Amino acid sequence: MADFETVRHDVLVVGAGGAGLRAAIAAAADGVSVGLVCKSLLGKAHTVMAEGGIAAAMGNVDDRDDWKVHFADTMRGGQYINNWRMAELHAKEAPARVRELEAWGALFDRTPDGRILQRNFGGHRYPRLAHVGDRTGLEMIRTLQDHGIHHGIDVHMEWTVLTLLTDGERVAGALAYDRERGRFRVFAAGAVVLATGGIGRAFRITSNSWEYTGDGQSLAYHAGAVLQDMEFVQFHPTGMVWPPSVRGILVTEGVRGEGGVLTNREGRRFMFDDIPENYRAQTAADADEGWRYTQGDKNARRPPELLTRDHVARSITREVREGRGSPHGGVYLDIAWIKERLPNAAEHIKKKLPSMYHQFKQLADIDITTEPMEVGPTTHYIMGGIHVDGDTQMSTVPGLFAAGECAAGLHGANRLGGNSLSDLLVFGQRAGTYAAQFAQAHAPVAPDLGQANEAAQQALEPFSRTTGEGPYQIQHALQDTMQELVGIVRREEEMAKALSQISALSARAAQVAVVGNREYNPGWHTALDLGNLLTVAEAITRSAIERRESRGGHFRDDFPDKDPGSATFNITLRKGPAGRMELSREPIRPMPDALKQVIAEGG
Ligand code: FUM
Repeated sequence: MADFETVRHDVLVVGAGGAGLRAAIAAAADGVSVGLVCKSLLGKAHTVMAEGGIAAAMGNVDDRDDWKVHFADTMRGGQYINNWRMAELHAKEAPARVRELEAWGALFDRTPDGRILQRNFGGHRYPRLAHVGDRTGLEMIRTLQDHGIHHGIDVHMEWTVLTLLTDGERVAGALAYDRERGRFRVFAAGAVVLATGGIGRAFRITSNSWEYTGDGQSLAYHAGAVLQDMEFVQFHPTGMVWPPSVRGILVTEGVRGEGGVLTNREGRRFMFDDIPENYRAQTAADADEGWRYTQGDKNARRPPELLTRDHVARSITREVREGRGSPHGGVYLDIAWIKERLPNAAEHIKKKLPSMYHQFKQLADIDITTEPMEVGPTTHYIMGGIHVDGDTQMSTVPGLFAAGECAAGLHGANRLGGNSLSDLLVFGQRAGTYAAQFAQAHAPVAPDLGQANEAAQQALEPFSRTTGEGPYQIQHALQDTMQELVGIVRREEEMAKALSQISALSARAAQVAVVGNREYNPGWHTALDLGNLLTVAEAITRSAIERRESRGGHFRDDFPDKDPGSATFNITLRKGPAGRMELSREPIRPMPDALKQVIAEGG
C-alpha cells in the first residue's frame, strides 16, 4: 500500500470557477477550514468565457421585472422538467447575489442614473442580464478570487481529482494528482463540493475549455450518486466557424441582445420563419421593431433572434443543411447593420462588445463593426448532471454536494442564457453553506486508503504498457462519435451505433499507453481524462435514447414532438451492482399551487 501524503480540510471544494469560489467563500465564512482544488491556475476558470451577463430580476431597466417573471421564464425555457424549487430559489436569490458581488468590487456597466445595467437575452421577458461589456464572467471570477483570498482558503492549483473516497456510505475525501509532478495526495474532508463544470470536450465542436471533461459528473457517478437529465446538452447557436483552428469558440448572445441579426446566404432573416405568421417581418418597419426592443422600447416586439437557444440552434442547422448556409458551414451574424440606426455605431459596438471585436479581428481578420460574422452551433452546456437536493445541493451520497454546471435541476431541458452565472452564485453559496454545516455536524471519517491505492495503481497503468494506442486517437474518435451521432438532431439508430462505438472506445481506453514519466506529461493527463469523458458520453447517449420525444436541447428526428406525458419525468441514472448504468424515470414532485399560480399568471 502506498504511503500517501494526506491533507485534511473540513470542506473540500473541487473546481475554482464561479460555483467553486462562491462555495469556498460561503464555507470559509462559516468558520470551517476549506481546501479548493483546481485543474488550472486560480483565475483561469472556464467561467471567464461566460460573456453576456448574470440573469437577475433586479428591474433596473424595466421595473416590471421581478422574481416571479424570472421563475416563469426559467420554467418555460426548461420546458417544465426543471427542479421547480431550484428555479424558485434561483429567481428569488439572484438579485442579492449580484448586489453582493458589486459590494465585493465588481464593476458593472451602468444605467444613466447609476444602477447596474441589464441587457436582453433569449427567453428572458425583460432586460435582465447584469453585465460588464462582454466580459462578465471574467469580472465575476476576478471579484470572487480577490474576495476569497482574504478568507483563508487553501488553494491547491493544478491538481486533478481521480476518485472520491468514501467509507462505504459517506464521502470522506478524494485522491488527486498534481499535474506538474504527478504526485498523489489524499484530501481527507468532512464534506466535498463538486463544482467542476461541464462535459463539452466529449464533442468535437465546443465552446468549452480543456478542463471540461465531465470530471464531477463521473466522479459522483462512480461514488454512487445519481445523475439526472444527461440527455439535455445545450448547443449554443453562435460559435465561430472559421478559421478551423478556432471553430466552436463562443460568440456571445450579447451580440443579438445588442441588436445583431442572423441572416442566411440569401440575406434573409430566417429566424422570422420560426415564429407565428402574424408575427413575421414583412416590412422594414416590422424588422425595426426588434431594434427598438433591444434599445429598451418597452412597446416594441422581441426580435426572433432572441428566441431560446434550442430554437435558434436548430434553425441555423436547418439553413445549413438545406444549402442556405455561409461558405464555411454557418450563417451570418450581423451587428454592423446598426450603423443604419446609430451615427456612432462602430464606437458603440466596440464599447458594448469589446471581446467580440478583438476576437474576430485577431482570430478571423473580420471587423465586426463593418462586416458580418460567420457563426454556427457549438456544444456549450449540459443541463443535466448530479442530482441534488434543491435547498442544500447535497447529492444522494451523504456529504457530497454539487453546484453549478455539474449539478442538475435548475435548467430543465434548456437553459436560458445568463442563468448559468446566477446559478453559480446562488447555488455555489448554498452548497458551501450546507457543506460547512454537514462537516460541523458529523464527526470526520477516515478515508479508505485501499480505495486510494487502487485508483493510484490504475492511474499508473498506462505507463506499464510498452505497446498500445495513445490517448489522443481515442479522445478524437469519441468526440467525432458524439458530434456525428448524438448531436443537435438525434435518431435512435444513430445513437445505438454511438453506444456500441463508446463501448469499443472504452475497451481501447482500458489498453491505452503513454510514454515518458509522470512530470509535465499531457499525454498522461489526457489518458486519465478519458475515463470521465467515456462515462459522461455513455450517460448522455443512454438517456437520449430513453427520452423518446423532443424537448428543449434534446431533439429527436424520429420523435419530433413533445410527449406531454414526459413532462412529469426526469431520467435518472446510477451505477448498478454489476457496474452497468441503470436508468429509470423519476416522477417530478408536484409543484405547490402558489408556484403554479405564478406560471398561470405568466409570472
Ligand atoms: O452567450 C453568452 O454570453 C453565454 C452566456 C451563457 O451561456 O450564459
